[in-house]
Amino acid sequence: MIDRVDRDTVRSAIALASRAPSVHNSQPWRWRVGPGVVTLHADRERWLPVADADGRDLALSCGAALHHLRVALAAAGVVATVRRLPRPGDPDHVATVALRAGSPAETDLALAGAIGTRRTDRRPFGTWDVPRGFVDELVDRAAGQGAVLRPVRDERRRLEVLHAIAEAAAVQEATAGYRTETRLWTGSGAAVDGVPAANLLRDPAAGPRAARHFGTGTLDAGPGLPAADADGAMLLVLGTASDDPLSRLRAGEATSAVLLHATVLGLATCPLSQPLEVGSTRAVLQSRVLDGTLSPQLVLRVGWAPAGPPPPPTPRRPVDETITA
Ligand SMILES: Cc1cc2nc3c(=O)[nH]c(=O)nc-3n(C[C@H](O)[C@H](O)[C@H](O)COP(=O)(O)O)c2cc1C
Repeated sequence: MIDRVDRDTVRSAIALASRAPSVHNSQPWRWRVGPGVVTLHADRERWLPVADADGRDLALSCGAALHHLRVALAAAGVVATVRRLPRPGDPDHVATVALRAGSPAETDLALAGAIGTRRTDRRPFGTWDVPRGFVDELVDRAAGQGAVLRPVRDERRRLEVLHAIAEAAAVQEATAGYRTETRLWTGSGAAVDGVPAANLLRDPAAGPRAARHFGTGTLDAGPGLPAADADGAMLLVLGTASDDPLSRLRAGEATSAVLLHATVLGLATCPLSQPLEVGSTRAVLQSRVLDGTLSPQLVLRVGWAPAGPPPPPTPRRPVDETITA
């Protein structure tokens, strides 16, 4: 009931949910708030038609926002009951979340705390291993949202992922409109969306091999780092049993769960969607990295941040502009 879960609490939870990662920081979502209910809708006007032709990144971004909302509500002591894609005739109606008063658990508070400190970090990471126990926890977090997270452990598979990223980049660079679209969403310091220059490397050549090329920014790679291809990040591939809209939404929720938990563990993270955006490289991930067992949805770089200040928070649209009654 809205009189038991007051409007300010719901608005604050939506403000935290808006901190979710999204492709190019496009924030492709809108919220509606009613008595005892919040609904989440995909905003097609914020879709990237060239890079994200099949709408996967849009669906994952909405899934990440949905999971962030669930975390924020749980931390505020609100019990949320979620119906995903509740209206078959309206695929952009992503979820209906029914709200009821409850009480927060300590783990909810820790996860919600990570919303404010999580960053997409495009710097090369340190070369210390991510402990196996930490990786197992991330795998569990993905499973808890109905997705499978596969650490890329052997060198052959790692090279397959890196080649797929390079190949996808080459295909996209040759695709009409890709550069213009990327430019539209990057580099500005004053915007309320897009990827700011402050979050892109001053010297992109010093970045990880797996990085998407957005352009030149103002972020330092970190003091005393080795050559770019010595990036110590671990790569993990997130997959789902099938590739329908519900699977993509679940994959987005799993992305959020993994990134927030990694943040709690002190790990740096960066999602990489480029090899999923091109059909031929998505097929390579499916057959040669996941052995044909899963539909790949996203690649994650995870590891230890270099010394030096972390990337600053990226901007978000004013929350009231994203809410309709
Ligand atoms: C579905 C999805 C795909 C993304 N793809 C990439 C990518 O290919 N390369 C990259 O550097 N960041 C990627 N990101 C990260 C976004 O650019 C980032 O979330 C956004 O700029 C907001 O910044 P923040 O994560 O620091 O809050 C992706 C995020 C999502 C949710």
